[in-house]
Amino acid sequence: MGIGMGLNLLLLLAMVATNILSLYHLSSTRSPTPSSTTPADVPDHLLHQLHTIRATISHLTRLRSSSSSSSAAASAPPPELLLYSRIAPIASSCSDHPDLLHRYMNYTPFAACPRDDAGAVAEALILRGCHPLPRRRCFSPTAPKVPASLPSDPFHAALPDAAVLWPLSAACRSFSCLPPALGFDPKIEATRFLSARSVLDLPLTQLLNLARSAGAAPIRLGLDVGGGTGTLAVQLRRMANATVLTTTLDLGAPYSEAAALRGVVPLHAPLQQRFPVQDGVLDLVRTGHAVNRWIPGPALEFLLYDADRVLRPGGLLWIDHFFCRAGDLDAVYVPMIGHLGYRRIKWTVANKTDAGGLKNGEVYLTALLQKPLLAASTAVKASSS
Ligand SMILES: *[C@@H]1O[C@H](CO)[C@@H](O)[C@H](O)[C@H]1NC(C)=O
Ligand SMILES: *[C@@H]1O[C@H](CO)[C@@H](O)[C@H](O)[C@H]1NC(C)=O
Repeated sequence: MGIGMGLNLLLLLAMVATNILSLYHLSSTRSPTPSSTTPADVPDHLLHQLHTIRATISHLTRLRSSSSSSSAAASAPPPELLLYSRIAPIASSCSDHPDLLHRYMNYTPFAACPRDDAGAVAEALILRGCHPLPRRRCFSPTAPKVPASLPSDPFHAALPDAAVLWPLSAACRSFSCLPPALGFDPKIEATRFLSARSVLDLPLTQLLNLARSAGAAPIRLGLDVGGGTGTLAVQLRRMANATVLTTTLDLGAPYSEAAALRGVVPLHAPLQQRFPVQDGVLDLVRTGHAVNRWIPGPALEFLLYDADRVLRPGGLLWIDHFFCRAGDLDAVYVPMIGHLGYRRIKWTVANKTDAGGLKNGEVYLTALLQKPLLAASTAVKASSS
């Protein structure tokens, strides 16, 4: 570990030194003699870069000398950094998928981007943790025509098909033929979150009542993680005038487009991404069907901590129909959730009785948890002094 770090530092220094030499060369051509016939002006941004490189080198030199003089442990990377470097929540994992990356970046600048049917390239990269995607200079293809009108009713019987660039290869190229269970049937969606069909459901009237009695009201701002076509956002807007963002991917169906057509904001983001929301500002975070045992442990843990980050004190975390093997609930997930130190307002576990659930001995958990007040940790201050 120590050797690897040292080697990295050396490589970095070598690279920086090469840059600095070329920049020194540039800057030295500037003021040789006043009689010079071709005074090459060094652009400001290069001088600025030179300054940055100098500052970096002096910072690294200080780092290196302090780590070689004190114990090796002082320079060891924090274990938390190693834990999450493996699941690479952001763009660092783009390079793990060179084929997709190559396809994504293979385009003609200043023209229309290539068609990416069903997100075969962009969505595939995002799903693998390549997010944010690399910058491109092309224009997203649009649907062939502007829809005659956009619905003002989020439960409108038919969302306008013309607003979507349907994949050429798809058998179904209309909202009307998508499987109703996926969130595209307005009649089904209109009833969701309104009544309890099992002990695992938390109807919104009950949620709002619980929020009031827990001192968590009003629910004004929320985030629905993996929220499909945005039905929770739609319902909470109707019932409480709340603004709820919905993270959603277009896996197999135009979820984002549907949410947008219903007038709620789709955040096109994978589950392993840090939410683009400031700390401590949301009243409610819900995790739905997408958040389940199939998410790797460290990624799920990160997601929970990120939900905690964006929640205000007193805010609510609603874990809705999380499922896992019965044994794993107590062994893995209850301790993981318990680490947050949240107050349990609702905590319901029940057998998952569909075919898959019975086969794998799975259970569902629905929990409504409240974030406590917490003073800032002094860990950083203590270790750096
Ligand atoms: C939502 O806002 C509208 C318009 O300001 C208001 O008339 C209505 O009472 C509000 N509804 C709730 C549930 O707060
Ligand atoms: C849940 O499933 C377990 C194991 O299959 C079984 O022993 C238990 O009785 C079930 N509980 C209920 C409430 O059905």
